[in-house]
Amino acid sequence: MPTDVTPVTFAGGVLRILDQRALPHDVRYIETRDPAGVAAAIRTLAVRGAPLIGIAAAYAMALGARRGDEPAATASMLVATRPTAVNLRWAVERMLSAGRDAASAEAEAARIHDEQRASDARCGEHGASLIPDGATVLTHCNTGALATGGGGTALAAITTAHAQGKRVEVLVDETRPLLQGARLTAWELARAGIPHRVIADGAAAGIIARGGAAAILVGADRIAANGDVANKVGTYGLALAARAHGVPMYVVAPVSTIDAATASGGGIDIEQRDEDEVLAFAGSRVAADRSRALNPAFDVTPAALVTAIVTERGILRPPYGAAIASATREAVAR
Ligand code: MRU
Repeated sequence: MPTDVTPVTFAGGVLRILDQRALPHDVRYIETRDPAGVAAAIRTLAVRGAPLIGIAAAYAMALGARRGDEPAATASMLVATRPTAVNLRWAVERMLSAGRDAASAEAEAARIHDEQRASDARCGEHGASLIPDGATVLTHCNTGALATGGGGTALAAITTAHAQGKRVEVLVDETRPLLQGARLTAWELARAGIPHRVIADGAAAGIIARGGAAAILVGADRIAANGDVANKVGTYGLALAARAHGVPMYVVAPVSTIDAATASGGGIDIEQRDEDEVLAFAGSRVAADRSRALNPAFDVTPAALVTAIVTERGILRPPYGAAIASATREAVAR
């Protein structure tokens, strides 16, 4: 993403957050010195994407340190905002282990942000190696710079392949109900000059069946110890279609998205969001007045449907239990 638009910037005790709810038509920012302001931005998806909400929460802890807030209280407020993406909890726990003074907290938050940029670059390179020249690939939700604060995860694989000179076309799931694909991924691809077309989520399986996608690339919000993957709702359906038609399903995520303490996907808390996100469109009600909605924000793709998990530490292949244990051990040993 060009440097004139960055999703979070911290300077002079102020966190500046690009308000992703207004994209792509309006580039506007939220500025706050208050951890509660950051928590509200995370809850309302002004800032979103698993790694980026971890970074935003880390800066929120640093803001709290400046104000002399009790770190444990700030931490629990932040962790409660979104339950599925484990990067949030991971970043807050790291901040709790850093020094309590503002300078130490700010340095640790900046380190988490820097590490994400470096991790994204490595994920991008490993992921690009899986994309053949001339491929049309399909992606879901938004996994670009807007989701990580670096170059992205699954989208970094695509932008890296493009930068290497490979011809790549991207089919972008619109990603109902909040349209992170149509609004954010398409915007990022357009700015990068990468050929792409937005598709209705419901079109994906038919396109895959007709040989219209050489690979599926998605990110993750949490990966259990056995390789089960929680990601934006609709990912599981893509994985089923991909397996039925012999198309590889790649998950690209940093090691900080792995939750080694959760044995399998059944233990992952799936965020349930407001019914209005489904019942209304752009602020206008579309469903009948008496209709209710069910709105899980994520689903779980069983490890058996995942061809590879691409991390900054390399490409993990099944069986994932051992591969994940070794990748997370190395990360802890660093
Ligand atoms: O609800 P969101 O927009 O925060 O969901 C984001 C996703 O599901 C992404 O695919 C995931 O966080 C991976 S981002 C690198």
